[in-house]
Amino acid sequence: MENKEPSPSTIPLFLSSLFVFLLITKAQARDDQPYYCHSSCGNLEDTRYPFRLRSQPLSCGDPDYTLTCENQKPILEFGDGKYYVKSINYKDQTIQLVDVNLANGSCNLPSGTVDSEIHGDIRYQRFLPHVEISFVNCSKPINESTFKRVPCMSGNRSIIHAVYSGASVYEYQHSCSFPISTSLIDDNYSAKQPSSYEDIRKLLQNGFKLGWSVECRDCVLSGRKCGFDYNDPKPHYRCHKPYNEYDDVIKAYIILSIIIVSGMVLSPDYTD
Ligand SMILES: *[C@@H]1O[C@H](CO)[C@@H](O)[C@H](O)[C@H]1NC(C)=O
Ligand SMILES: *[C@@H]1O[C@H](CO)[C@@H](O)[C@H](O)[C@H]1NC(C)=O
Ligand SMILES: *[C@@H]1O[C@H](CO)[C@@H](O)[C@H](O)[C@H]1NC(C)=O
Ligand SMILES: *[C@@H]1O[C@H](CO)[C@@H](O)[C@H](O)[C@H]1NC(C)=O
Ligand SMILES: *[C@@H]1O[C@H](CO)[C@@H](O)[C@H](O)[C@H]1NC(C)=O
Repeated sequence: MENKEPSPSTIPLFLSSLFVFLLITKAQARDDQPYYCHSSCGNLEDTRYPFRLRSQPLSCGDPDYTLTCENQKPILEFGDGKYYVKSINYKDQTIQLVDVNLANGSCNLPSGTVDSEIHGDIRYQRFLPHVEISFVNCSKPINESTFKRVPCMSGNRSIIHAVYSGASVYEYQHSCSFPISTSLIDDNYSAKQPSSYEDIRKLLQNGFKLGWSVECRDCVLSGRKCGFDYNDPKPHYRCHKPYNEYDDVIKAYIILSIIIVSGMVLSPDYTD
């Protein structure tokens, strides 16, 4: 039978290696987050607060910013759609997403709608430069420069069009049914219109970017309004106090009372 007791000489060795191990672990835990909060999923190498992977402890992020990891791909569910997370920028507080149905360039409708209202979702506050694409299903071809026929999904009596820049789709509500919209990044929006659905498909594969801000979400939760200062090159969200007309009335009453009371105190007749 072996002696399982550590010999006295191995104890200091064990303690010093434990010490070195703790030092290394501590050095790796950047940004004051415990080391177990640093976790990766596919292309997302370091998911940090406020984002967390569902597999991580709740305390690693904010539950509102939870991502799932499926087959080593980080996924964000947003509105009624599902999106791959291409990148998260913690400095300018943006997230780049691409619809799971469009990511591999296959001919597909988007999984959900993303429009400029961002579903009123208070976790995400703004779009970066983008273009809205609507998919419409029409009983006849629409001859408009912004309507691009999607050949792979169209038949003789149902023609799917991808409508660039969300142009006047409602004009065609008699012959078309609707619409699912999504967004794409297009920094060259004004420069060049896509010439066909193929161009749009490639752009869709690139995805779109949203801005996120925990402070802004908390601001809205507290009943105030959050705005974004676009003139500032750095992300700059501003939490506005709601305008309350009663505040002004109360202020006026207080000032008036001070004037009246001080007038009474200072008045010589007051001694009567
Ligand atoms: C592309 O993605 C769609 C939707 O997720 C899927 O149905 C299709 O099989 C994928 N195609 C390839 C070539 O991976
Ligand atoms: C388009 O509409 C037609 C007729 O309503 C329908 O049969 C077809 O499935 C629709 N296509 C898509 C892609 O939704
Ligand atoms: C589409 O519209 C253009 C100009 O608006 C016109 O020249 C062309 O003939 C139209 N094509 C069809 C198929 O109606
Ligand atoms: C679509 O139209 C073409 C040409 O008019 C015709 O040859 C084809 O059979 C039609 N397809 C269907 C499914 O109706
Ligand atoms: C924008 O257009 C310029 C010139 O046409 C081109 O060099 C550049 O790659 C385009 N950028 C994107 C994102 O398409």
